[in-house]
Amino acid sequence: MSQPVKDNYIFSRSEADAIRLNYIHWLSIRLCGFLVHPSIPKESPNLRVADVGAGSGIWAMELAHELPRTARIDAFDNSDSQFPATAWVPPNLHFWTHDCFKPFAEDLLGKFDVVNVRFFVTIITPQTLPPLIQNLTTLLKPGGYLQWYEPDMGTTTVTTGSLSFNTPAVDKLVSIMKKPIPNADHSFAATLDQSFVHQGLELVTFDRYPMRDTLRPFFCHTQIMTYEALCEKLEQQGMLEPVKAAREHLQEVKDEFQKGAAVAQEFVCCIGRKGTA
Ligand SMILES: C[S@@+](CC[C@H](N)C(=O)[O-])C[C@H]1O[C@@H](n2cnc3c(N)ncnc32)[C@H](O)[C@@H]1O
Repeated sequence: MSQPVKDNYIFSRSEADAIRLNYIHWLSIRLCGFLVHPSIPKESPNLRVADVGAGSGIWAMELAHELPRTARIDAFDNSDSQFPATAWVPPNLHFWTHDCFKPFAEDLLGKFDVVNVRFFVTIITPQTLPPLIQNLTTLLKPGGYLQWYEPDMGTTTVTTGSLSFNTPAVDKLVSIMKKPIPNADHSFAATLDQSFVHQGLELVTFDRYPMRDTLRPFFCHTQIMTYEALCEKLEQQGMLEPVKAAREHLQEVKDEFQKGAAVAQEFVCCIGRKGTA
């Protein structure tokens, strides 16, 4: 039985949240086409991979299936609430609870060929990003790779494709996504390459993946699920009036999605390499 974690994570960690993460995972893999970026060598039979902020464990589970049993993946999250049941975790994968802003255990330092981070947009701030990159780098072997995949929130816009109609509800959704609260700054993904270099990593590649038309209806589903998840979290916190208004807005968003509006957004993947000196 997992212990609830007291932190500032804006979502709950229910089954519905895990399902939402799994859906976004599959959409992302369809979009970018890889679990581990092609620039990262994966051939070593003893490859060691860390997945930080593993959530439901879907990325780590899929990679464990792809890699040989001699490889080893360690997946970390500050909560085990969404981890898969141990009965289904293969022997080359291990789940741990750990707060990624705190130093990792001594025996993990310098041990990993690859460290993966994904969908931390609501978790980090401009202030916590540099120390987090530093902390993740401590896990890497010399020459090891940091892979970071995120939505670039600054690229979020509304599209109606070849149609032309007003989209006030989706316009409002896009504004909320870009700045959910007045002091929020979710712009870090656009300059992740510079942040990697500032923290001493060698930049291998910084790639962009614009949402494509055939995935748009499914990307709309992720917006709906995410909005519903936030409404539920606010409801649990007793914020009933704002939630009532948000649910009305969500219904208008759904109606506009149904007519052919969609949120357009680019995802980025930044790969950095730790020096060998
Ligand atoms: C949006 S989910 C992404 C999950 C996963 N990376 C994926 O791509 O599906 C963010 C995850 O980070 C975890 N998290 C939040 N704060 C954390 C922290 N300080 N240390 C470790 N994990 C954290 C949350 O519990 C959640 O599982």
